[in-house]
Amino acid sequence: MSLSTRLRLGLAGVAALAVLSFGCAGTATDELVIGEYGSLTGNDATFGQSTKQGVELALGELVAQREGRIGGLKVRVVAEDDQGRPEEAATVVKKLLNQDRVCAVIGEVASSRSLAAAPICQEAGVPMISPSSTNPRVTQVGDYIFRMCFIDPFQGTVMARFAAQNLHIQRVAILKDVKNDYSVGLAQFFTEAFTNLGGSIVTEQAYSAGDQDFRAQLTNMKARSPEAIFVPGYYTEVGLIARQARELGIKAPILGGDGWESEQLLQIGGEALDGCYYSNHFATDNPDPRLQEFLKSYKARFGKESDAIGGLAYDAAKVLFQSLEKLAEQDPETFKGLASSKAGTAARRTAGKKLRDIIATTTNFAGVTGTITLDENRNATKPAVVLAIKDGKKVYDTTIHP
Ligand code: PHE
Repeated sequence: MSLSTRLRLGLAGVAALAVLSFGCAGTATDELVIGEYGSLTGNDATFGQSTKQGVELALGELVAQREGRIGGLKVRVVAEDDQGRPEEAATVVKKLLNQDRVCAVIGEVASSRSLAAAPICQEAGVPMISPSSTNPRVTQVGDYIFRMCFIDPFQGTVMARFAAQNLHIQRVAILKDVKNDYSVGLAQFFTEAFTNLGGSIVTEQAYSAGDQDFRAQLTNMKARSPEAIFVPGYYTEVGLIARQARELGIKAPILGGDGWESEQLLQIGGEALDGCYYSNHFATDNPDPRLQEFLKSYKARFGKESDAIGGLAYDAAKVLFQSLEKLAEQDPETFKGLASSKAGTAARRTAGKKLRDIIATTTNFAGVTGTITLDENRNATKPAVVLAIKDGKKVYDTTIHP
């Protein structure tokens, strides 16, 4: 037997012993597993990538400050790619629950995907925190579903007020993504608020995510001479819509919501987006020290500026860690039910319920996206900012309070 073979056999023996002794103890492999799902690929891949990085940054701090442990258990995050498809979101969340035995889930960004996966978490009694889904129906799925952001009835009002009062606009055309719950909802909330303010919607046109050619809809719109076009969609299509609108000679500003938020928005839309506005969860030029500190560490770690989704995901992870810590302190026995080995047991159900109760009491949490207090419907009440696009840059314009 060669030396290296003997060495390998020796090592295998040690490994086997280790497995045996841990096996007897029963808890050596116990972890606190947190699931995270998002569009790491697909039509709006920056949404999922930013979420993953925001969570990673928060986990990195937990590792640096507390050896990555809560209540004695090692925290591990499992991230899944749903490719931006609601059916796939449901599939990966089932995998996180059944295979990875997660005690809580962070995700999704897009409301349609959160809506597909939320009933599964609710049914399992496992809390789900969406960082950034704004459609009101998401948290209505049930009492285990939370979010870190404002909701669209407010966001729609923000842009309606901005159009009517700041831009003094009365005639708006809408172009919405008909297969996207967020887009359909935000178009409706904007319409209600804008018409209440005395404005009118001169036409409403439709598209579907993945479309490349919007000239027919834009030509219809042009004939009604709107003073602005409201596009409650995601960045990929928004960039193309802006370019084609300018090609057709439409000079009216284009307005939108948080779905525009992506490092790729300006790469896709270019100069066509100059003079346009959208509502968002933060402005990176806000001097708030907490936000600036976050942006600095994000940049140091990932080499680029965080978008609002990165900030919301970071806040979601922090709120979850804080809630887990509270449970570990207040009720260490119940807390043990969150350990990976307890998935599917009555102890897990009890612990999941307690964790839910603690998350629900989140009050004045100092987030990088603002102060987070959850209301009785598990939504955060926060101000929105309106960003202006000027000379190829996003700049802070206004804050609108609830
Ligand atoms: N609010 C959007 C939705 O509900 C998702 C989103 C949030 C996109 C933040 C970009 C930034 O679908």
